[in-house]
Amino acid sequence: MDTKNMAIGVFDSGLGGLSAVKELMNVLPCESIVYFGDTGRVPYGSRSRETIAKYAQQDVNFLLENNVKLIIAACGTVSSVATDLYTTVPVPYTGVVNPTAQAAAEATKNGRIGVIGTSATISSHSYKKKLQEINPEFEVFEQDCPLFVPLVENGFTDPEDIIVKSVVERYTAELKKKGVDTVILGCTHYPLLKDAIGKAMGEGVTLIDSGRATALYTAELLKEKGLECESKVEGKYRFFVSDTPHNFEKIAGMFLGRDVRSQVTQIDIEQY
Ligand code: DGL
Repeated sequence: MDTKNMAIGVFDSGLGGLSAVKELMNVLPCESIVYFGDTGRVPYGSRSRETIAKYAQQDVNFLLENNVKLIIAACGTVSSVATDLYTTVPVPYTGVVNPTAQAAAEATKNGRIGVIGTSATISSHSYKKKLQEINPEFEVFEQDCPLFVPLVENGFTDPEDIIVKSVVERYTAELKKKGVDTVILGCTHYPLLKDAIGKAMGEGVTLIDSGRATALYTAELLKEKGLECESKVEGKYRFFVSDTPHNFEKIAGMFLGRDVRSQVTQIDIEQY
C-alpha cells in the first residue's frame, strides 16, 4: 500500500489516548487509525522510567508491525519520560508535550500556567521546561493527580459524582490559589474529566486539552512530510487492547459517540 494511505498509529496506557483519537477524527476525518491501549498494564504514570520506556517501546513495536505511517504517543507520561523514542522511531513520531505546551503559551494572558499530570510527568517537569523555553517569564505551577487515571479507567467521570468532585477539588485546590488563567491537562486521560476540572477551577480558566493540540500538530506534520491520505471517505478505525475489551468498548463507545464493539481486539503485548 502507498505509504500515504497507511493508518496513523496512536498509543496510550489505556483509554486516555482516545482524547487524541476523538480530535483526530474531527481534524483528519479521512485518515485511518490503529489505536493501542495498554489496558493490561495501566497505569504507567506511577512506574519507573525503565518500565515506562520498556512498555512504550513494545507499544511502538506493535504499531510498526501494523504498518503505520506515523506514530503518536498519546500519553503525557510516555512523551515526558521515554524521550529516546523521539530519535529512534523509524517513522514520523510525536508525543503530546510540545504541541500542548505551545497551545498553552498561546492561550495564557497573565503568564501563570498550571500543569496537572501523572506523577512521572510532573517529576520530569517536561511541560514546565518546554513552557519556559518558549517564554522564560512564564510562571508554571505543577500538580500530580495520581487518582485521576484510575477514576477514568473505571468510568468515574460525571462532574456531579461525589467521588469525582472531591478528588478533583482536592487536586486543584493549590492551583486555584496561584491565580493561573490556563491549565494544561498534561495527561491524555484528563479531558474525560474536563467538566469536573473546569467546574473546580472556575470561570476564566482555560483548560488545554492535549488531544486537540496534538491532533492539530499531527495535521501539520502529515502535510510537512507529504503523508496526507488521498482518500475522501471516512478512515477505518481499529482498536487493540492488552486486557479484556469489555470495559474499553463501553467507555470508548460513550466517549467517541460511536459503537466500536466490532473493532476492538485483545493482543498479547509482551510478544512485542
Ligand atoms: N494517559 C496517560 C498520560 O497521558 C496516563 C498514564 C498512566 O497510565 O498513568 O500520562
